[in-house]
Amino acid sequence: MKTYIVGNWKLNFTVGEASIYLHKLMKALPNYRDIEVVVAPSTIALQPLSLQVDRHKIRLAAQNAFYRDFGAFTGETSFLQLSGVVNYALVGHSEQRYIFGEDDKMIAKKTAAAVRNRIQPILCIGETESERAFNETADVIRDQLLGGLSEISDDDLDKVLIAYEPVWAISSTKVAKLATPDEVAEVVKLIRKTLTEAYGKKAAENVPVLFGGSVNPSNAGGYLTVPGVNGLLVGGSSLILSEFVDIIEVAKRVQS
Ligand code: PGA
Repeated sequence: MKTYIVGNWKLNFTVGEASIYLHKLMKALPNYRDIEVVVAPSTIALQPLSLQVDRHKIRLAAQNAFYRDFGAFTGETSFLQLSGVVNYALVGHSEQRYIFGEDDKMIAKKTAAAVRNRIQPILCIGETESERAFNETADVIRDQLLGGLSEISDDDLDKVLIAYEPVWAISSTKVAKLATPDEVAEVVKLIRKTLTEAYGKKAAENVPVLFGGSVNPSNAGGYLTVPGVNGLLVGGSSLILSEFVDIIEVAKRVQS
């Protein structure tokens, strides 16, 4: 399986800045066939960047979209409108869950809408600090995983990626503790077990599972060698071009 390195730019960069970053990133990267490099800019930058990007090197992801294709949904952008523009879309990122109140029902509709429009959803799941403290991690992970996948058919599971991002490890949260590779391993094992029970061993094995939460060039290798981890979802560190390139280089080294 390929290794996925996904940069989540969140609400950063103007369209001009995003375009310059992309230009520099394309120049800095060799064409690594077995590493899927993805960046997720703000929605407004997606269309211009889609005309600029060399898809042999880099793919684009949306950070979010709405599940209905058209209609009276002021302020929204649909997966239908993004089809052909992006290859991937983050779905259910914790900032959407906790700042904008997205629940598993809405996330399930978004996962399905992405697949319907030929966009691969990257379903983000992860427990909060207090859920971990109250030993609720396993329940939360199972609920968010099966809830987020509940509207796609078994045949479409191979189009989905999962990103495990413990909310307490995300760099912008106040607590922001680093997750240890052992902590990541335990949850990734649970994700694979849950997928196996629901969809069978073979289907479960083929789902890429990414880790995210304060990933940087010095800890990337440790996370990438956790059994069952196929890539990284990088926020803060992906905003600094040299760090993002270093993380991709680490991924290349870990692979060979
Ligand atoms: P971080 O963000 O790498 O800055 O912790 C990750 C994310 O929120 O996707």
